Amino acid sequence: MTHRYVYSVLTGLCAIFSILIVYGFVQYEQALTVTVHVDTEYEFVEVPGPIQPIPYIKQIDSGWQKLGKALFHSTLLSKDNTISCASCHNVHQGGEDGFPISIGINGSLGDRNAPTVLNSVFSFRQFWDGRSATLAEQAVGPIHNPVEMGTDFQQVIQKLNRSQEFVDAFTQLGVNEITPDSVVRAIVTYEESLITPDAPIDLYVLGNQSALTEQQKSGYEKFIGFGCVSCHQGVNIGGNLYQKIGRINVVPEKLLADKGRFNVTKNENDEFVFKVPSLRNIHQTAPYFHNGSVEKLEDAIRIMAIGQLGITLTDQDVADIMALFEAFSGQVAPEL
Ligand code: HEC
Ligand code: HEC
Repeated sequence: MTHRYVYSVLTGLCAIFSILIVYGFVQYEQALTVTVHVDTEYEFVEVPGPIQPIPYIKQIDSGWQKLGKALFHSTLLSKDNTISCASCHNVHQGGEDGFPISIGINGSLGDRNAPTVLNSVFSFRQFWDGRSATLAEQAVGPIHNPVEMGTDFQQVIQKLNRSQEFVDAFTQLGVNEITPDSVVRAIVTYEESLITPDAPIDLYVLGNQSALTEQQKSGYEKFIGFGCVSCHQGVNIGGNLYQKIGRINVVPEKLLADKGRFNVTKNENDEFVFKVPSLRNIHQTAPYFHNGSVEKLEDAIRIMAIGQLGITLTDQDVADIMALFEAFSGQVAPEL
C-alpha cells in the first residue's frame, strides 16, 4: 500500500517536473525569437558570369541605422559591460577580430572564428553552420551566448533604460518602450549598411576592363577554370550554399574536429558541412576557416585546391589567385 502511495507521488512529481522543464524550454525559445521589420532596399544589377556585383543601397532608414551603430558599439550589451559586437567585429578592419577564435566576457573562448559582418546581409544563412536564417535571428545569439556577451534582453533593456542617450534615441524613433525587437531592428539596419560596393572585382564584372591588373585577370581565369566558383559565387563570392570541407581529398586534421552543420541537424550527410564563406575582403580576415586554424591565405588556397577540387596548384597559380583576392576588397562608408 505505502509502496503504491510512494510510487504515485513520484510519478506525479515526475509529471510536474517534465511539464516545468518543457514550459521553461518553450519560454526560453520564445525569449530567443524576435520579429522585426527592416525596410532597407538594394539596387541589384545582374551580370553574366558567376560573380555578381554588390548592389548600392536604394533606401535605408538612417535613424535606425545610427541607433544600430551605437548599439553595435555599446558594451551595455554584455553582462559585465566589457564587450560590444564591435569587439569581435571591427567594421573598419575586415569586420572581424583577427583572432583564430574569439574572446568573450571574462576572457572566455568560443570554438569558432569570427566571420566578417561586412556584406553578411547578402549571405543566405548566418553562422558557419548556417543555424540562423536571418541577421535578426542571428543578433539574439551573441547576447545570450555565455562565452560571448553572456547576458539576456531583460538585463540589456534595463541598462539601456538607465541611459538617457539611448532612451532619447529610441524615443526619437517613436519607441517609448524599448523591446528586444526594437534593439534588433536597429542593429540589423546598421548591419545592412555594412556593405563594400565598388571593389575592383565589382567594377570589372560591370564591364570596366581596366579595373583588374593583368595578374588579377589571370587569377580570375584560374578561379573560374579550376572550379573555385562552383562554390564561391554570387554577390558574396560565397555565402549562398553549404558544402563539405574535404569534399574530394583529405584536409589537415585540425579542420576536422568540428562537425559543422551536423551539430545542428544530426544528419550524417551534414558531417563537416559548412556554409561556403564569402571571399570578399578575404585579405583582411585572417586567420582562416571555421576555427581560424590556418594563418596564411596562401595555405588556405592550397588546402582548398587539394581538398575541394583534388588539384595541386603551382606557386604561380597561388600568386595569381592571391592577386585576384586583392580585387575582392572594398570599403564600408567612412562614417560607419
Ligand atoms: C566574443 C566575440 C563575439 C561577439 C561579442 C559577437 N560576435 Fe558575432 N560572431 C562571433 C563568432 C565566433 C561568430 C561565428 C560563430 C559560429 O559560426 O558558430 C559570429 C558570427 C556572427 C555573424 C554571422 C556572420 C556570418 O557570415 O555567418 C554575424 C552577422 C554577427 N556575428 C554579428 C554580431 C552582432 C550583431 C553582435 C552583437 C550583438 C555580435 N556578433 C557579437 C563572435 C562574436
Ligand atoms: C566544394 C566547394 C568548394 C570549392 C570548390 C572551393 N571552396 Fe573554398 N571553401 C569552401 C568551404 C565549405 C569553406 C569553409 C570551410 C571551413 O571553414 O571549414 C571554404 C573556405 C575557403 C577559404 C577560407 C575562407 C575564410 O573566411 O576563412 C578560402 C580562402 C577559400 N575557401 C578559397 C577557395 C579557393 C581559392 C578555391 C579554388 C581553388 C576554393 N576555395 C574552392 C568550399 C569550397
